[in-house]
Amino acid sequence: MSQLIDKPGLIQLLRSQFRLDWRGIHGAPHWARVRHHGRHLARVRGADLLVVELFALLHDSQRHNDWHDPRHGHRASEFAASLNGRFFDLASKQLDQLTFAMIQHSDGRMATDATVQSCWDADRLDLGRVGIRPSSHLLSAQAADRIDYAWLLSTR
Ligand SMILES: [Fe+2]
Repeated sequence: MSQLIDKPGLIQLLRSQFRLDWRGIHGAPHWARVRHHGRHLARVRGADLLVVELFALLHDSQRHNDWHDPRHGHRASEFAASLNGRFFDLASKQLDQLTFAMIQHSDGRMATDATVQSCWDADRLDLGRVGIRPSSHLLSAQAADRIDYAWLLSTR
């Protein structure tokens, strides 16, 4: 499904407008690990792979700092909507899932929608990069099975 994203174009745009350290805790290496976990979870949970991949690439792209930035999910959702039809083509249900997942991704919630939860699972699985071991209470069972592996990936 990755071919449904103009990845070179999108990444060039992301890089040109990213305000923080490209290799920092909310930068490209984090997005790549979230994408890696998200692709696995989307497959095993039957979630929407395109939505999960776009979440990985975009959810932290509009941060203004690496600390307290409660509006970054809102800004990311508006940014994603503005790119639809240029770098990818989401149907309205997919765009709703993506924007909802982005707006609420740092609120510590669980979702009933497998696509939304796969986005949050993938992001939470990479908490090891800031020394936090993800809690299985905020993960799907399939993501909780991956905590040790994710810890290895994010702390190496
Ligand atoms: Fe993130």
